[in-house]
Amino acid sequence: MKTMILYASTYGYTQECAAKLSNELAGDVLLVNINTDPVPPLEAYDTILIGGSIYMGQIQKRIKEYCLANADSLKKKNLGFFISCGSAENFNESVKNAFPEDLIKTALSIENFGGEFRTDKMKLSHKLIMKMVAKATEKDNKPPAKPMPEKIEKMAQTINHSQAM
Ligand SMILES: Cc1cc2nc3c(=O)[nH]c(=O)nc-3n(C[C@H](O)[C@H](O)[C@H](O)COP(=O)(O)O)c2cc1C
Repeated sequence: MKTMILYASTYGYTQECAAKLSNELAGDVLLVNINTDPVPPLEAYDTILIGGSIYMGQIQKRIKEYCLANADSLKKKNLGFFISCGSAENFNESVKNAFPEDLIKTALSIENFGGEFRTDKMKLSHKLIMKMVAKATEKDNKPPAKPMPEKIEKMAQTINHSQAM
């Protein structure tokens, strides 16, 4: 079984999640960063797992556009989607904004890998937005962004199980 993990990551959190996911999957796994690597043709792969991180409610544009442009081919594959985000309560909405509805319906696994605010790496505008979001989160007593490695494991188990059948 061959799997491709296609991802985008702005400050590296999703990249680390994608690498962990690849280590936990059985069979051949190719990790592809859509911003730096060429995306190979889909034909050779049985399973495609696609993800990115959420900024102002939206996933990285290249991921969104790739899914839309390749929806017909993706529909024929075992599919999984993941996002990294700071706000678990907006998970369903973020997923809906990120990926085409007909692909979401056929996915074997859709997970929230949690998130991390990597302030030291952020450009100024992101730092300012993040400060505002953090203040609002605290004021509303909402939980802050946190990594969810258990969800990476959950996706790997679901995919490994489906491939063993
Ligand atoms: C400027 C900014 C805007 C963000 N907007 C959202 C958002 O709308 N919803 C959300 O759930 N998380 C939001 N986040 C949290 C990121 O999705 C989270 O930090 C994620 O771990 C980033 O992953 P990356 O390093 O792979 O890009 C935002 C973070 C920043 C810095």
